[in-house]
Amino acid sequence: TQVTALIVAAGSGTRMGGETPKQYRPLAGKALLAHACEALLSHPRITAVRVVIGGGQEELARKALGSLDVGELIIGGRERADSVRAGLAAIDDGIVLVHDAARPFCPPEVVDRLLDALESADGAVPVLAVADTLAKGDRELRGTVNRNQMLRVQTPQAFHIEDLRFAYDEAGSGAPTDESSVMQHAGLKVVTVAGDEDLHKLTTARDWERAEMMLQARMI
Ligand code: C5P
Repeated sequence: TQVTALIVAAGSGTRMGGETPKQYRPLAGKALLAHACEALLSHPRITAVRVVIGGGQEELARKALGSLDVGELIIGGRERADSVRAGLAAIDDGIVLVHDAARPFCPPEVVDRLLDALESADGAVPVLAVADTLAKGDRELRGTVNRNQMLRVQTPQAFHIEDLRFAYDEAGSGAPTDESSVMQHAGLKVVTVAGDEDLHKLTTARDWERAEMMLQARMI
């Protein structure tokens, strides 16, 4: 089967500050997006890597990607779900691994676990347990949530492409942000596999510094 990694990079990526969307900014000398692509391009079971970018980001993306083999760039949309839909319309049937551009490291074992799990499920996602207490509230606590029932869901998320296309059709407009929710709403079975701390999404300036330090120390 064809296994396509679909890297969604069409966000404005400016929560961390700065003018250039973070996915195109250099992390230890190479764009964040390029790190994410390389991690998946090097996996022996992945047959193609494609990238979804925002309209107007072509030049930034080409510069960030250099000679990486990601085929033609796909133009995404306003919401993440629009970007995933655009990606699904542009790729061949088989298996898709939807992945955030903001996660520069992807241990190959996670991809293996996902692909193995898909043999008996419609979808598979990497998850981690919650270490901190989870609570509701703002400046005052309004109850805690049983963290034993809670999971942190990461990407890549693996699906049979026809199932995910069907799930998005069922969801119509206003689909939830994450693919695994769209699948569940459509009544499809999504299983979990062990995630990895290295899959951490770079969101804050602190995340960025830590990732640079790890790359420089060649810890990753
Ligand atoms: O904003 P957030 O960190 O949740 O975005 C996760 C991923 O989805 C990022 O890689 C971002 O570029 C992508 N995205 C997208 N299209 C959008 C919004 C987000 O491809 N409209």
